[in-house]
Amino acid sequence: MGIVKSKHLLEIGDFTPSEIMSILDLARSFKEVNDRAIKKLPTLRGRTIVNMFLEPSTRTRTSFEIAAKRLSADAVNMSGSTSSTTKGESLVDTAKTLSAMNCDIVVIRHRYAGAPRILADNMSAHIINGGDGKHQHPTQTLLDLFTMREHFGHLDGLNVAIVGDIAHSRVFGSLAPALKALGANPIAVAPPTLLPARPDVLGAEVSWSLDEVIPEADVLYMLRIQQERLDDAPFPTLREYANLFGLDARRAAKMRENAIVMHPGPMNRGVEVSSEIADDPRMLVLDQVNAGVAVRMAVMYALIGGEKDELTV
Ligand code: NCD
Repeated sequence: MGIVKSKHLLEIGDFTPSEIMSILDLARSFKEVNDRAIKKLPTLRGRTIVNMFLEPSTRTRTSFEIAAKRLSADAVNMSGSTSSTTKGESLVDTAKTLSAMNCDIVVIRHRYAGAPRILADNMSAHIINGGDGKHQHPTQTLLDLFTMREHFGHLDGLNVAIVGDIAHSRVFGSLAPALKALGANPIAVAPPTLLPARPDVLGAEVSWSLDEVIPEADVLYMLRIQQERLDDAPFPTLREYANLFGLDARRAAKMRENAIVMHPGPMNRGVEVSSEIADDPRMLVLDQVNAGVAVRMAVMYALIGGEKDELTV
């Protein structure tokens, strides 16, 4: 039996909690490979992976490309400005075009929620959601869970405060339900203007006060203010926002002893985190990036039908 049943990773719910744990275990083996001088395995030799990034990305795109190459797959990058979508080609036609080239995996980032599903319905490749609009970002969630589990040794019972621009956050959209499913407690911390109508449906409690939540939290997960998605003005100025919901050294002094700070990147220094906190040893943003490569190797391997027992790393 393969590691996961689903053909695609369109949203985090495509993997069961036990499948998520198997992916994290597998990612740990791949992380060891990534620490070696020669970081390459023949596992996906002969496979073709297309990275279709129609929205800006540094970490996610690079990380998928590195992950594919470390597994010996051929990785091709498509970006928004060079693809025919700018010439008016529909996503369905792009999917059929890529399908005609026999790609094995397509990773898609798109400004529209649901774009990965359109690809899945119109081509034979395995589809991985690399972030769709305000909906989900499942591989980010897996690397976040990996980072938390490495630090605490478990996920069960952790209080995870997810702070900031919840309303526009695909990171929250997949992290909150996954934490809930794995026995942790996600808490959405934001001003009411940055909360969606029903954060509870994603399993999260809600608080309007960062100061109240800090002493209880094991993880402070600071979200970026998505300035590109703010149509109206949810707060008077960025300074005002930073004063109430930003993490600085004064607030961080109230953190639990073993608590950590996380961020999906890119960080806005001086907004959601002060520069001092961005460089603080409790901030694990670079551990997250490091885990990202291993986790994406694990996801690609698992979707293509790998069996954990047959893998020699
Ligand atoms: C996130 C994204 O693009 O959704 N970044 C990422 O993938 N590392 C979060 C963000 O842009 O704020």
